[in-house]
Amino acid sequence: MTQGVKNNASSSVDLKSAPKKEKDYSQYFVGTAPSMKDAKKRTKNGIAYNEFEGIADDLRELGKGRTFLIRTYGCQANEHDTETITGLLQAMSFEATEDEREADVILFNTCAIRENAEDKVFGELGRLKHLKKEKPELVLGVCGCMSQEEAVVNRILKSYQHVDLIFGTHNIHRLPVLVRDAFFNKEMVVEVWSKEGDVVENVPKVRKEGLRAWVNIMYGCDKFCTYCIVPYTRGKERSRRPEDVIAEVRDLARQGYKEIFLLGQNVNAYGKDFTDIEYGFGDLMDEVRKIDVPRIRFTTSHPRDFDDHLIEVLAKKGNLVEHIHLPVQSGNSEVLKKMARKYTREHYLELVRKIKEAIPDVVLTTDIIVGFPGETEEQFQETLSLVEEVGFDSAYTFIYSPRHGTPAAGMEDNVSEQEKKDRLQRLIALVNRLGREKNEALRGQVLELLVEGPSKNNPEMMTGRTRTNKIVHFKGSEDCIGQLIHVKITEPQTWTLYGEVVAKVEV
Ligand code: SAH
Ligand code: SF4
Ligand code: F3S
Repeated sequence: MTQGVKNNASSSVDLKSAPKKEKDYSQYFVGTAPSMKDAKKRTKNGIAYNEFEGIADDLRELGKGRTFLIRTYGCQANEHDTETITGLLQAMSFEATEDEREADVILFNTCAIRENAEDKVFGELGRLKHLKKEKPELVLGVCGCMSQEEAVVNRILKSYQHVDLIFGTHNIHRLPVLVRDAFFNKEMVVEVWSKEGDVVENVPKVRKEGLRAWVNIMYGCDKFCTYCIVPYTRGKERSRRPEDVIAEVRDLARQGYKEIFLLGQNVNAYGKDFTDIEYGFGDLMDEVRKIDVPRIRFTTSHPRDFDDHLIEVLAKKGNLVEHIHLPVQSGNSEVLKKMARKYTREHYLELVRKIKEAIPDVVLTTDIIVGFPGETEEQFQETLSLVEEVGFDSAYTFIYSPRHGTPAAGMEDNVSEQEKKDRLQRLIALVNRLGREKNEALRGQVLELLVEGPSKNNPEMMTGRTRTNKIVHFKGSEDCIGQLIHVKITEPQTWTLYGEVVAKVEV
């Protein structure tokens, strides 16, 4: 097992924007705190694959008569981690609650990707100070990506001393012991491993949804895009063994799940860390497509490692859906270079051309950052023209947010806040127009839907998703939940579509 790093909360990152030296708060806690410096290091050590050791007998009953509540922020990786945390807590006999005032354990599974994500969590922690005062036996914990950041942990130690537990993304399987320590310790329990953990298989999980199941195929990220905190908070790339992934997908298919969502920060790097076999993401997709489950999706795909073999496999379709989320970030090669994305505008467009040639009805979606340090109006215009040229069906758009400890946080940024907001608005207007046009083109078409349940806004309508992940509302009854049906699109809108049932699909 990889050991947690020694307590080194006082080390700091050497950046112009970073504070000189962080104060050492180690007297306030027991355990190990994160170090951004160590988080940067990528060891050559191979990855150890371990089975979950199980939960000690004396911890299995710890949660009897007690309840827990988890608030989750961030991406699917975090949502899926929450399913693991839920599995562990339930195996310790805790029961889930939605009522904050009733909960004996409240955990914040946090995201560090942008500043506003972090602000929300600090706001919530501040708000709960009151509750903790009223109910001192409450265990209040912070986990997820924010806990991997040195500055965050120091801030909690300094200003949020009512927090009882901080643990990171590499040691979730240690939760039973950590929760016990938090219940019985006066000091804050902190256990964050800055260096990546091993791959631990068979940790208990309780999935939140009954139709769609997330499956990790790999952990971490080695890309180090200059704006991004994820390589520091999630550690180096570690792929799960293909046989473990395939066994999990088979098992989920047997349990009746209809859609498998394969997860990794950069799924195209899958397998690059194997030392004994030559096996990549294309090979994995070629195997899972033979499993009897109606739909298989994946996210996220880095354009640089998207190879021809993968395109070939995806073109076989079947249960591999014709939707690819392919974050571009910027349409200007110079900005892409400063972002260390390691591809150019031309390379991206060429990749899109190849994908469209092999899968003519593919739907492409993307992520875009505006206002990267020094981005000029002309460079931004190239983002707009790329978006138009590719014709994305939708896009997640963000204003660049400096992340403490990343190289971009030290770059000179002369783009004003107002300008950044203005660029975002112009980009959103374009993305919306394209989305509307794409959806309009579906009018009258018959599409396959996986029915999810009643529509949130109108209980008389049912909601389903197309293979391309678009939401469709239609008049129907609850007995078609979980089924594949065919729907004719009658009323396309920018975000959603309305349709009429044509037929059920035999699966
Ligand atoms: N691994 C995925 C991205 C995960 S983060 C990938 O590379 O595609 C999701 C998105 O958040 C990124 O694609 C990027 O557009 C955005 N993002 C990441 N860091 C950011 C930052 N510092 N400021 C603004 N947006 C950021
Ligand atoms: Fe972040 Fe880049 Fe890794 Fe995606 S590929 S998680 S944007 S560093
Ligand atoms: Fe956020 Fe961590 Fe995901 S920073 S986006 S929760 S990997």
